[in-house]
Amino acid sequence: MKHKITTFVLLFIASNVFSQQKTIDEKVEELLKKMTIEEKVGQLNQYTNDANPTGPLVINPNKQEEIKKGLLGSMLNVMGADRTRKYQELAMQSRLKIPLLFGLDVIHGYKTTFPIPLAEAASWDLEAIEKSARIAAIEASATGIHWTFAPMVDISRDPRWGRVMEGAGEDTYLGSKIAFARVKGFQGDKLGELNSVMACAKHFAAYGAAVGGRDYNSVDMSDRMLWETYLPPFKAAVDAGAATFMNSFNDLNGIPATGNKYLQRDILKGKWNFKGFVVSDWGSIGEMIPHGFAKDSKDAAYKAITAGSDMDMESNAYRNNLAQLVKENKISIDIVDDAVRRILRKKFELGLFDNPFRYSDVERQKAQMNNPEHTKIAREVAAKSIVLLKNEKGILPLSKDLKTIAFIGPMVKPKRANHGFWAIDVKEIDSSYIVSQWEGLVNKIGKKSKLLYAKGCGINNDDKSGFKEAIDIANQSDVVIVSIGERHDMSGEAKSRSTINIPGVQEELVKELQKTGKPIVVLINAGRPLVFNWLADNMPTIVYTWWLGSEAGNAIADVLFGDYNPSGKLPMTFPRSEGQIPLYYNHFNTGRPSMNDNDIIYKSTYIDSPNSPKFPFGYGLSYTSFQYADLKLSKSAISKNEQIVVTMNLTNTGKYDGAEVVQLYIKDKLGSVVRPVKELKDFQKVFLKAGETKNITFTIDNSKLSFYNDKLVFDSEAGEFELMIGTSSEDIRLNANFELVD
Ligand code: GLC
Repeated sequence: MKHKITTFVLLFIASNVFSQQKTIDEKVEELLKKMTIEEKVGQLNQYTNDANPTGPLVINPNKQEEIKKGLLGSMLNVMGADRTRKYQELAMQSRLKIPLLFGLDVIHGYKTTFPIPLAEAASWDLEAIEKSARIAAIEASATGIHWTFAPMVDISRDPRWGRVMEGAGEDTYLGSKIAFARVKGFQGDKLGELNSVMACAKHFAAYGAAVGGRDYNSVDMSDRMLWETYLPPFKAAVDAGAATFMNSFNDLNGIPATGNKYLQRDILKGKWNFKGFVVSDWGSIGEMIPHGFAKDSKDAAYKAITAGSDMDMESNAYRNNLAQLVKENKISIDIVDDAVRRILRKKFELGLFDNPFRYSDVERQKAQMNNPEHTKIAREVAAKSIVLLKNEKGILPLSKDLKTIAFIGPMVKPKRANHGFWAIDVKEIDSSYIVSQWEGLVNKIGKKSKLLYAKGCGINNDDKSGFKEAIDIANQSDVVIVSIGERHDMSGEAKSRSTINIPGVQEELVKELQKTGKPIVVLINAGRPLVFNWLADNMPTIVYTWWLGSEAGNAIADVLFGDYNPSGKLPMTFPRSEGQIPLYYNHFNTGRPSMNDNDIIYKSTYIDSPNSPKFPFGYGLSYTSFQYADLKLSKSAISKNEQIVVTMNLTNTGKYDGAEVVQLYIKDKLGSVVRPVKELKDFQKVFLKAGETKNITFTIDNSKLSFYNDKLVFDSEAGEFELMIGTSSEDIRLNANFELVD
């Protein structure tokens, strides 16, 4: 009897407790009912901190007053626990005390910076990529940031577009896996945990296909291309639980993304059932006027809110027009309420109503900066992102007993340059902690070897006056390392280039150094694939070092001296010339395929250039070698609900331990629409000790054989398939055929 009473009492308490614990949705509804239309519109309005604009700035002197009146929902570019706290204190003076959301472009790290996302993609190491985002979230959230405007998941096949640096390259499968990993990294186990931030999948959608690679330009593509190539990474972000999306500046097939109902309502909030909110990209709502899609700001506000843009970043269109549109019954209050709900829900999830200042803790901020574990991981991720393009004479790895090394070039000593375009430029964060390439070399062998330095030349000018000094120190050395490339602001937003060469006279400097006859290692630092045919044809040792972040110098030294065996693989095709662009590995065959570089009569090619790239997607060398053998398929024919288990043996046949990215491609030989010559459908990054063999297993199921058919239905079709396993998209080591049967 006593037991029964106890159980009853416990159940009674539990039911009471639960009944008092309103759900977030109930709290949102309760708050919504109290809000005036002005307060509701306020939640849909986002302003930048004037000190750090990341777009065309329109000064609004009343920001602080508007915050106190509850007329602002979010701010971006406010950096530091102290600054975010100050703005939050203003918000707490408002009638309903609705907290502000603080967003920031934490693209590849906050204080500890990681390789630019395109470089990280070259690591093909999903665990490392997730860890990098995790650390970025830990540091950013400690400074009062609730929300990062990342990951950028735009697929791009055009290296003239400067924003390729922010993404994961040209491939949909790799890009989708990386999108998922980055969202998980930023958001952690659960939103609302102090070291998590909201992710923001951007830029929705197809921004990376801008005509001519020119930023903000139009995008025109078939629905099949959109669904097959450009949307899957966004869907992966939804599957990973991305809290927010950001739309894009471009028009898609004539309709600006921010006013595109098909994208934002039909696909994102409809088919994909996305419950988060969409923020417009900087001013993109107002930009529908110059697009010629909105008559004026009021029309832009109408079109954007109707199409599903929930929050207005910096255009003021919502602030100035939404309340009036509701009063005139041009839009229903329901559409505004839906947007407000989505935003309030996130603020509750982040715990901001319980404690608006919980992320703005100066002590926690201090504790999280300069964390040696973060630095260690940044160095590891940077080393994994480096791609060895050539090592023909086996100059690398360099011996640590070298007597004299000349380190030459304009990228040797700069620190900020290793951060690339997007980096958090907080005035309290000076760049002294960034390990320059010079410092990395000094750290590695400065005590034992004599290190000589010369800048040699600038990055983007024709001044050769420094050549002589460079040649002099080269002649005194046993080995020359030359570090050249793009300046940190030559790739990134609004940084499209019509020629993607190595700027200035940097290549000429290398030509002069080559004449010394000394062994030369060329490091190329850039935010995108570049065209460097003379170097590629004439220099035996080339390492692509991207922009590797705050541990760049140490990571480069780790690779050059063999403390890390390079394992990076290109996530984008490197063309021979801009004339080949767009050039990507998973192209269609055409009716007149050019079978080799000389096969040009009546073939789909150029009379003045081969079709082949300078360096293909998935390419990257190692200090060791790998043997691919013993390919076995569990079946040679499957029906749609069956799987094929693919096994093979990978052996490290060289003398260095190292990691290999085993890439699995599939070709669908016949379809109701033409199919690519190959598509990446799986990969594994495998570490092997010298001489070690590992058995590798992949699984092929119907999802890996499916595509958007002639009816735009995602499905597979019976027929012959070719399976290819290789060390790059062009270096296939094993292949087999199999069949899908009805
Ligand atoms: C910029 C970028 C976007 C960024 C936003 C806020 O214009 O397009 O990627 O997140 O504005 O800085």
